[in-house]
Amino acid sequence: MQEILKQLEEKRAAARAGGGKKRVEAQHAKGRLTARERIELLLDPDSFEEWDMFVEHRCHDFGMGSQRVPGDGVVTGYGTVNGRLVFVFSQDFTVFGGSLSEAHAEKICKVMDQALRVGAPVIGINDSGGARIQEGVASLAGYAEVFQRNIMASGVVPQISVIMGPCAGGAVYSPAMTDFIFMVKDSSYMFVTGPEVVKTVTHETVTFEQLGGAVTHSQKSGVADLAFENDVEALLEVRRFVDMLPASNRSKAPARQTTDPIDRDEMSLDTLIPSNPNKPYDMKELIQKVVDEGDFFELQPAHARNILTGFARMGGETVGIVANQPMVLAGCLDIDSSRKAARFVRFCDCFEIPIVTFVDVPGFLPGTTQEHGAIIKHGAKLLFAYGEATVPKVTVITRKAYGGAYDVMSSKHLRGDVNFAWPTAEIAVMGPKGAVEIIFRADAGDADKIAERTEEYRQKFATPFVAGARGFIDDVIMPHSTRKRICRSLAMLRDKKIENPWKKHDNIPL
Ligand code: HXC
Repeated sequence: MQEILKQLEEKRAAARAGGGKKRVEAQHAKGRLTARERIELLLDPDSFEEWDMFVEHRCHDFGMGSQRVPGDGVVTGYGTVNGRLVFVFSQDFTVFGGSLSEAHAEKICKVMDQALRVGAPVIGINDSGGARIQEGVASLAGYAEVFQRNIMASGVVPQISVIMGPCAGGAVYSPAMTDFIFMVKDSSYMFVTGPEVVKTVTHETVTFEQLGGAVTHSQKSGVADLAFENDVEALLEVRRFVDMLPASNRSKAPARQTTDPIDRDEMSLDTLIPSNPNKPYDMKELIQKVVDEGDFFELQPAHARNILTGFARMGGETVGIVANQPMVLAGCLDIDSSRKAARFVRFCDCFEIPIVTFVDVPGFLPGTTQEHGAIIKHGAKLLFAYGEATVPKVTVITRKAYGGAYDVMSSKHLRGDVNFAWPTAEIAVMGPKGAVEIIFRADAGDADKIAERTEEYRQKFATPFVAGARGFIDDVIMPHSTRKRICRSLAMLRDKKIENPWKKHDNIPL
């Protein structure tokens, strides 16, 4: 017995030591925490239950037989975040560069399988040199096993990837299939082929950071949702984020007591919209003034900034917010904003999170870049996502809602449950100027006549009342009452139940 206990302690100590003091120091010197330090920060104190500490790889090639570290480069298990269960894996770069062996993959798969069975989120901390080169196809098979589980878990439990080191080659596809990707600036990168291969194939010279760093992915490509300054900030934000999510598609997001009254009037909203319809205003200000305690967890804030997406609470319950941002590209829809919002809407629908949409959209962005880039298909993604969503949908049109974009943005016709408009709303096929130029082309040379027709069009259509007369708008509300009206609507919709027709799955325009 004593001998076994001694062995146990030795093995535990070896696992905890990871790749050894030198490699741990090297990790710290790069400004990165170790796999275990990250788990400690992520989870509630003393809540981590570790599994598979004694797992070792089974490779004998290339001298690997004599190099074994208990745990094999990944720390796995479960614990709690503010008292709620989560499963976690954290790759240990100090052990074979965090590379994925067959055994390492089996450990990840085990926690994913269990998370799916009990219905709890999976948080993966990625810091890895990719497939364990010495293991060849066994490690590729391991990746594919993880991929398959990512797919099965999609829409069942939330999956969050935190990229805290290298993530290259086919390995990027596991995070890509998870719901959210958080990265760390100047410390993490994701790419399918690295700078050296890029140089050989396309003769481009590019740094790791430029090719696949946190800034690149959170601004340009939109692969990452958020970029943080360091490991600590990223992990603390993951904790805040998890708080807003349901554990699985079998349960609702946790409600939180709020001291913010649901009937709070926000008088400053009455003057938010400038009198000049072409002047922008900050939609984020509106969101912050309407949600509980002004707390808006924005996702992809630096990518496709013409649309805002993120989570907040209203009356203590989590809601997904989608809003056009007039400050950027006048808030119009384009390829990137359509894709960004569509994926967000689909996440909300998977996990029964009500969607609140604020609309100020002059239409789709014109141009060859957009048309040749397939705006038709990308715009249709957002249309499809809203139309298929069965969660409660509350919409507020603050100003412009023109053309196809009016239909897309959670309109009544796409099963919007409650659709409000502010008195400043303009709901029409297009803006007065464009409309008059087309329907009164014969008067083009007569400036007075055109001005008169434009005013006539503005009076008739650039209001919420034509849509209101048909019941497409349920009510025209005072801006200051927006919070109250949305909260009441959400409360009314709490037990909403509608079902789409049976199908194997839909065929969203990918
Ligand atoms: C085995 C690896 C490894 C790997 C790194 N190491 N990557 N061991 N398999 N894939 C080991 C190194 O030998 C080294 O061991 C330790 O990890 C740290 O690596 P360094 O190179 O010293 O670190 P650094 O300079 O920071 O560079 C990190 C790196 C580099 C950029 C990740 O290691 C690298 O390029 N690795 C190979 C990446 C790669 O090509 N992977 C395969 C991708 S393809 P010691 O003992 O010296 O500490 C892939 C396919 C997936 O993943 C397919 C899925 C379908």
